[in-house]
Amino acid sequence: MKALILSGGTGSRLRPLTYTGAKQLIPVANKPILYYAIEAIHDAGIDEIGIIVGETKAEVKQAVGDGSLFGVKITYIEQDAPRGLAHAVKISQDFIGDDDFLMFLGDNMVRDGVTAFANQFRAHRPNALILLSKVTDPQRFGVAELEDGRVVRLIEKPKVPPSDLALVGVYLFDSKIFEAVNAIEPSWRNELEITDAIQYLVDHGRIVESHVIDGWWKDTGKPEDVLEANRMMLEYIVPHVEATLDADSAVFGRACIASDVTIRNSIIRGPVVIGAGAHIENSYIGPFTSISDGVKIIDSEVENSILLQDTRIERIPTRIDSSLIGKNVQITHADQKPKALRFVLGDNSQAQVY
Ligand code: TTP
Repeated sequence: MKALILSGGTGSRLRPLTYTGAKQLIPVANKPILYYAIEAIHDAGIDEIGIIVGETKAEVKQAVGDGSLFGVKITYIEQDAPRGLAHAVKISQDFIGDDDFLMFLGDNMVRDGVTAFANQFRAHRPNALILLSKVTDPQRFGVAELEDGRVVRLIEKPKVPPSDLALVGVYLFDSKIFEAVNAIEPSWRNELEITDAIQYLVDHGRIVESHVIDGWWKDTGKPEDVLEANRMMLEYIVPHVEATLDADSAVFGRACIASDVTIRNSIIRGPVVIGAGAHIENSYIGPFTSISDGVKIIDSEVENSILLQDTRIERIPTRIDSSLIGKNVQITHADQKPKALRFVLGDNSQAQVY
């Protein structure tokens, strides 16, 4: 069995972060989202992975390389534009050949991994196995309608959902899927939809199994989803504090803190991860915060947030909460008059002032 990870796309819902980087490389608990998918696939006993890349291919290739870091072999498959999930399958036919494969959307996270699903597919040998999960907002997802447990209909982002069972971003296929992706036409949004391809299998008498998962999973399409994924993954960190604290600082709860982090007169309340070279001074870092390498937090309080590399937060009088802050951002206190808020925000930034 091979695997295909989809790491192209536009990531419009995560702008402005996706103007400068791939959404699949946004770190959750200081590890890129894409790495979790590669690790889960490796754990499922699959070591040949094709990664679909688009505009952000250089960055993805740099982060993942040839896969040897993860014990897998990576082949990059370039998609000229985000023409849909089924289009990504279509252009992977040479790579997949006659093998079965597991397809993983590179911005999805499945806490308990995918080994059980790969094993179910290996044991039953259906033409497709789709994973479903009950959601409260099915309009945002591909949705399945079941009859006596059988998949009868699939619809992409339905205005009137036929059920609350959303397609989780992990699918297993045998090579019959290529008949489907080569037969279907683009949808109204001009994409080759994977739901249409699976519907084609159903309509042509192929066996499409479904499995309703009960473990946690997340499509990290929007900032609040990334923060939720961060909270979930921080619950699992193994505490490891290498930094030396001064006498006026303390760490409570689970924390991972790199050795060259400076912590002065500060309280860290886990779960928290703090990357190399960070500097925390006269500050409070609250639960569910991930701080990347080189971040400086001085005279400020931050919790339930993700701060990317080299960002600086200094003398902010109100606690920063539920925030996803990119690389090299500066949020500082102004001493000059007038006493006012001053912003230099890129397109599609979001700032909320209390
Ligand atoms: P989506 O989240 O559906 O699409 P997107 O990345 O374009 O995001 P947005 O809606 O915010 O603009 O894609 C799911 C995953 O599949 C994601 O990792 C991107 C990837 N993908 C491709 O690789 N090729 C494609 O043609 C599409 C549509 C998505």
